[in-house]
Amino acid sequence: MNTITAAITGVFGWAPEDVITNEELAQMVDTNDEWITSRTGIKERRVLKNPQLSTSDMAVKAIEGLLKQTNTKAEDIEVIIVATITPDMVFPSCAALTATKIGAKNAFAFDLNSACSGFIFGLETAAQFITSGKYKKVILVGADKMTSLSDYTNRNTCILFGDAAAAVLLEPNAEGNGVIDAVLHVDSNNWEHLCLRAGGAMKPATHETVDAHEHFIHQEGQPVFKIAVNGMAGAARDILSRNNITGDDIAFLIPHQANKRIIDSTGHFLGLTPEKICVNIEKYGNTTAATIPLCMYEFSHKFKKGDNIILAAFGAGYSWGAMYLKWAY
Ligand code: COA
Repeated sequence: MNTITAAITGVFGWAPEDVITNEELAQMVDTNDEWITSRTGIKERRVLKNPQLSTSDMAVKAIEGLLKQTNTKAEDIEVIIVATITPDMVFPSCAALTATKIGAKNAFAFDLNSACSGFIFGLETAAQFITSGKYKKVILVGADKMTSLSDYTNRNTCILFGDAAAAVLLEPNAEGNGVIDAVLHVDSNNWEHLCLRAGGAMKPATHETVDAHEHFIHQEGQPVFKIAVNGMAGAARDILSRNNITGDDIAFLIPHQANKRIIDSTGHFLGLTPEKICVNIEKYGNTTAATIPLCMYEFSHKFKKGDNIILAAFGAGYSWGAMYLKWAY
């Protein structure tokens, strides 16, 4: 029997200083603070304004903080996974750029694209490197510069997204703490509801695609909302029942931060009291692959060794799922 689990042994989040408030958005599109706050829970979001900087630079900030916090040398890192849908460019990977910038000269590195489920899909992937016994130090970063895909003439989407990165270190654990289980899904039948319409191999960039704003996020909010509630809550319920635990056994739920109403219904469905639900959407909006680790970072001072923690996410694809962790420190 394999007695080694993959444990998170450090977490560090970073967001740029510049802020876009609801009031500022109301000067760009026909919206207002009351609408945005009541429908989404978002008050402000961060934006990486410096045009010289991109997603890899945010990933570097998160990893630098993580290395310092965990007293780890960059050259000891063996694998770096960057979960992102906003790599600096289509290729080379954001992870390759990140690894070299931090001096991780003994690591191999790759990007993982699963939109808002990127962190949980990445965590399940990263955990396999550890439990295989071959790797001892793996970094997973969720990093997205969502403002680069946001259309500030479209009120349906520009209010939702922001920029951030957050990283975790995974190491072997012999005490049974770390990643216990994952329930992960994809179903692309309704992929058109949430996508970037152009710029990929199916529809390369042309003057027409630029004119039609097809290089910005397209989302049909209502159908995505309904399926996101069912997907996140359903996956979380499945992981609880599969592991014979109930809401009472859960110390914290760290949900993807797309909409406060989706977060609340997931928590309600699991029978969790509000203090068990980690929420920071009001400050950052939806930072896609970064929401869960950034929230983990901001709430980690409350976690105790052995705490049962559930992660849950839903995003483009569709892709969704839930993970069960035992906090390791
Ligand atoms: N400000 C003011 N009014 C707005 C608005 C804005 N920023 N955006 C939309 N509206 C209007 C719409 O035009 C519509 O007006 P109408 O009734 O006159 O047609 C009305 O508000 C309701 O729009 P609707 O899209 O039904 O709102 P909603 O309650 O569904 O909220 C979202 C919109 C995007 C916040 C919500 O659907 C959502 O969160 N969806 C899921 C997001 C998600 O989880 N994505 C997956 C992970 S990224």
